[in-house]
This record gives sequence, C-alpha cells and structure tokens, in this order.
Amino acid sequence: MNAVRVRTSPSLALVKYWGKLEGPHNLPATTSVALTLAGLDTTTTARSAGRGAGAADQVMLDGEGQPPARFQAFFDEARRLFKSGQRFNADSHNSFPSSAGLASSSSGFAALALAAARLAGLTPGAETAALASEAARLGSASAARAVYGGFTVLPAGARRAERLYGPEYWPELRVLVAVTSRVPKDDSSRGAMERTRLSSPYYRAWVDDAKLLADEALFALAAKDLQKLGELMRLSYLRMHASAMAADPPALYWLPASLACIRACAALRARGIGAWETMDAGPQVKVLCLESELAAVRSALAEAEPTLSFIETRPGPDPDIEELA
Ligand code: DP6
Repeated sequence: MNAVRVRTSPSLALVKYWGKLEGPHNLPATTSVALTLAGLDTTTTARSAGRGAGAADQVMLDGEGQPPARFQAFFDEARRLFKSGQRFNADSHNSFPSSAGLASSSSGFAALALAAARLAGLTPGAETAALASEAARLGSASAARAVYGGFTVLPAGARRAERLYGPEYWPELRVLVAVTSRVPKDDSSRGAMERTRLSSPYYRAWVDDAKLLADEALFALAAKDLQKLGELMRLSYLRMHASAMAADPPALYWLPASLACIRACAALRARGIGAWETMDAGPQVKVLCLESELAAVRSALAEAEPTLSFIETRPGPDPDIEELA
C-alpha cells in the first residue's frame, strides 16, 4: 500500500492550551480538555514520496503548496517515532475556512500523522493512535487531541493526548459555531502564545491558575454538569485571552460580532438557557449547549448579530482511515 486517505475533525478546547514549556518539543504549558467536532472535516490523501537524497516532504492545502519549514519538525518526528525513512506527499482539503480560528491545524496535523503512521506500515490500534498523537503534537499541540473522536485531555508537559470518552458519551451535547468572519487571521496561535509567554505580565498567573481549572473541568465532564463545565470554560477562555491581550504587541482576536455573541450568551443564561461560549485564536465564537436548546440559542445569536453564519456540530467520531490502491 502506498497511498492512504484520512478524514479528521478539529479539536475544540473547553479548557485551553496556551503557552509552551521551554525547549524545541512543543510541549504544552497548560492542560487542555477538548472535544472533537463532528462535520467539520479535513480530508488528506497521502502518498509515500520515496527515501534518501532527492526525496522531499510536500504538503498542499486546499490547492496551495505549504511552506516546508512549517512541516519539517513534524515529519522528522513522525519518521523517528514510526521508524520509517520515507518522505511524504500530502494533499489536504478542509470543508471549513482554514486559519480562521476553527482549529484547522489540529485536524490537519492529526490527519498527516495518522496517514504517515499507516504509510509507515504501523498496525491500526491504540498504540499507533498514541504514537500518531505524539507526532501530531510536534505540528500543533492541539492536533495531539484530534487523532481521537469524542473527548480528550492533553496534560501539561505531556507528549500525547489521552481519550477521555467516546463520541457517544454525551449525546445531547451540541456546539454552535458562530462564524463572525471568514478572513484568514494575521496573528497565528503559535506566534501569539509565544509572545504572551515572553511579554505578558499575566502569563505566569494564567499558567498557575489553569491547572485548577482543568482538574475541575474533568470532574464537571465526568458528572455531565453543563453549568459547572460552562462556568469553567468561560473562565478558561477569558483568562487565556486576558493574558494574550496583555502581550506586547497585544494579541486581540475579538471583533464586534464576537462580543455581540458573548453578550447574547450571557442574556440567554439570564433567561435560564444554558449557552456557554468559548473563543480560540480567532474571532469565531463556539457555544456549548444542549440539543433541546440549540434552536433558541441560534435564533438569539442571529437576532443579536444578523451578519453571523452558523455551523451546528456535536462530539465527533474517530478519524476514518482508508487505504487506497
Ligand atoms: C487557542 O495547537 O494551534 O486553540 O502548538 O503552536 O501549533 P501550536 O498551537 P495550536 O494552539 C491552539 C490554541 C487554542 C487552544 C487549544 O486548542 O487548546
């Protein structure tokens, strides 16, 4: 077999990773707790591109060649972990806007890692998924989580993510993605979190506090307590963004439409509807709620901000991996 097609979905952090340990290994400084989103798909077709001098790794994303430097450390780590000398050629497509704060790097590197593992001849199973998670982390730490469907945790300092629960664990849970802008962002999460670490006076406080939030969120998730989980999610993203806004120069991702969504969620909660928002390194707002309240949440947000478009999603399945002839 020398070609494989992999479908993955992005990993949305309920409790955020923001900041790295020192060193070249892309190890997260904070524990993240996440779920993989159904219906937002990255599909990657990968082939072996030979070995030795003259062979090179190549990645295309939505028809555009990607800078090799962004992928070098990842491919080198994948070869080391998978004990393979081969180079890889990958063609990737997203069913949603790339680089717009919808975690396309998480699904992208997860797909590449799973594809490279299969091309290297690793047998499908838990150990291969764990190795793929470790390789994916070098590409993007959030990608370590996206090799699994359902709910995951990536502990601070860990090399791999762990699966917490499968996609059927909480069937009533929904995530409404409110798309405020489709313009690719000009401040990458990688650059902004490094700036936060180096220049924000609030970075240390963020990291120290994040541990407690993650521990409590794991309990809330185990109890399927949406209100408690929602309160912790809100603290996590607001503290993450507060530390980032205090960087020099500041990392400010919010648009007026993002703030309109945040306020609309607060108004919904005041009416007894559990709508809990979170934001990542971009202007989109993702709202966690129950299926029974999804329609009410969507119409309240649409009324508050008529320019929004929506993606309705839920905890997603494990990646699909298909060998091609
Ligand atoms: C805000 O995983 O994209 O989405 O490891 O530098 O590639 P790198 O960063 P990345 O950062 C994700 C940050 C976040 C929060 C999260 O997904 O936990």
